[in-house]
Amino acid sequence: MPDNARVSIPSAFLQDLLARADLVEVVGRHVALRKSGANYLGLCPFHGEKSPSFTVSPAKQFYHCFGCGAHGNAIDFLMAHTGAGFREAVHDLAAQVGLTVPEEERSPEQRAREAAQRRAQQTLTELMAQAARAYRAQLKTSPRAIEYLKGRGLTGAIAKAYGLGYAPAQRRFLSTVFADYQDARLVECGLVIEGDGDEARRHDRFRDRIMFPIRNVKGEVIGFGGRVLDGGEPKYLNSPETPLFHKGEELYGLYEARSAIRQAGCALVVEGYMDVVALAQLGFGHGVATLGTACTPEHVRKLLRFTDDVVFAFDGDTAGRRAAQRALTAALPWAGDTRRFRFLLLPPEHDPDSYIRTHGAEAFAAALAQATPLSRFVLEVAADGCDLATAEGRARAAAQARPLWQALPDGALKRQLLHELADLAALEVRDLEQLWQKAAPPARGLARASRPAAAPPGRPAR
Ligand code: UTP
Ligand code: MN
Repeated sequence: MPDNARVSIPSAFLQDLLARADLVEVVGRHVALRKSGANYLGLCPFHGEKSPSFTVSPAKQFYHCFGCGAHGNAIDFLMAHTGAGFREAVHDLAAQVGLTVPEEERSPEQRAREAAQRRAQQTLTELMAQAARAYRAQLKTSPRAIEYLKGRGLTGAIAKAYGLGYAPAQRRFLSTVFADYQDARLVECGLVIEGDGDEARRHDRFRDRIMFPIRNVKGEVIGFGGRVLDGGEPKYLNSPETPLFHKGEELYGLYEARSAIRQAGCALVVEGYMDVVALAQLGFGHGVATLGTACTPEHVRKLLRFTDDVVFAFDGDTAGRRAAQRALTAALPWAGDTRRFRFLLLPPEHDPDSYIRTHGAEAFAAALAQATPLSRFVLEVAADGCDLATAEGRARAAAQARPLWQALPDGALKRQLLHELADLAALEVRDLEQLWQKAAPPARGLARASRPAAAPPGRPAR
C-alpha cells in the first residue's frame, strides 16, 4: 500500500519516539516475555512455535525471531502485529509514550480536535473493557449459560480465548458495574438504551444473552454480539454503530485469529459468531466472521493486511449462495495476481459449525481443500440461470460476467479470465473485448465495490 505519510512525519520525531518508547513494554502488551540474560524471550507471534525463539533486546530496541527471521523496531512490531499502517502505528506508539505526532499539514486546531477525539474514544474503550470483564465474571456464576455453551460443544479454554461472557437478565445489571448509570457515554458506546430520555426507563441493551466481545486488531473491545439462550428473538443482538464500532469494517475473531492465520497461511471467512468459535474449538483458529452484514471490500482489505489467501465458507442455502456472491463482489477489486480467493459452499442444511460437528475436522479440511477458486466462481456466477445451449443464454452469461470481469484489477488473472469468459460465451476474445470496451454503466450494486475506497484520511483504519 502506498504510504506517503512517511513524508509528513519528521524523522527527528521518529527517532525521538523510538528513543522514548520501551520496546519490551510495547511487545510485552501482546506477547508474554521473560528475562533471559540481557534480552527478553517469548513465543513468536509471527509464526507458530512451541519453544520460544523470539527475542527482544532492550539495549538495541530491536526484536528478532530466530525461528522465522521477523525483526524490527517498535513501529515495525505494531505494524506487523496489529496490521496497522505506518501512520497509525506511529500514532499508537506516540499515544503510548505521551507524545503528539507533529504533522505539517495539520493545523494546531485540527490536532487538538484529533487529540480530544482520541481521548474520548479511549474512555469509551475503557467502558467497553469494563463491561466485557463484568460479563465474563457473570458467565462463571451462571450454570445456565455455562450449560448452553457446553451444549454447543465449547470448552472453558475456548470461551476464555474469545472472552465469552453472559449478560444477566436484570434490566439494569450494568448499574452494578458502573458508578454512574446515567453517564451518557454508556449510551454512546451502545451498552445502555435511553428510554426516551426518561431516566427511569434507561436499561441495558443486552439482557440474558451469551456475550461475544468484538475486538479490534489491537485487542480492544469495541462491540458485542449477544445470543439468546432459548428460542427468543432476535437470535443475535449486536452493538449499534458507535464511535468505536463500524460493522462494515470489523471482522469478528480477527484479533483472536491473527497467529492462526499466519500459521495456516490463509484466513477463513464465515458468517456467524458461533461458526468462528466452533471452528477454533476444533482446530481451525483462522476463522473470522462478518457481523450480520454482507462482506464488504473494506472487510477484505482488512484481512489482506494479514494474508494473501482467503477462503470464504458459506451455507449452501439460497442465503448462503447470495452471501458468497456478495463476497465475490467484495473480493474482485483486490484479486491481483499474487492473491488467492476461494469459495466453499457447504451442503444446504449446514453452516460451518454444524458441518464440522456432524462430519468432523478431517471432512471439513477436505472440503476446504476443494474450495472453488475465484476464477472458476466467476464463471459459475456468470452462467447462473443461463442456458448455455442457446445464443440467448450465452449472451446473457456474457452480460452477467461483464461487471465481474471489469471489477478485477489489471493483470495476468484478468487476461486469462477473459479467454475463459470468451469460451463460455462462444465468442472470440477480440469480439468480447470490443463488446466490453463500449462504455456502458456497470451493473447496479457492483459499481461501488469496483472502486474500493482507501481508508478515509484521518480516521485510523482498524
Ligand atoms: P445465523 O442465523 O446463521 O446464526 O446468523 P448462526 O451463526 O448459525 O447462529 P447459531 O449457530 O444459531 O448460534 C449468522 C450471523 O448473522 C447475524 C449474526 O452475526 C450471526 O452470527 N445475525 C443473525 C444477527 O445479527 N441477528 C440475528 O438475529 C441473526
Ligand atoms: Mn449455526
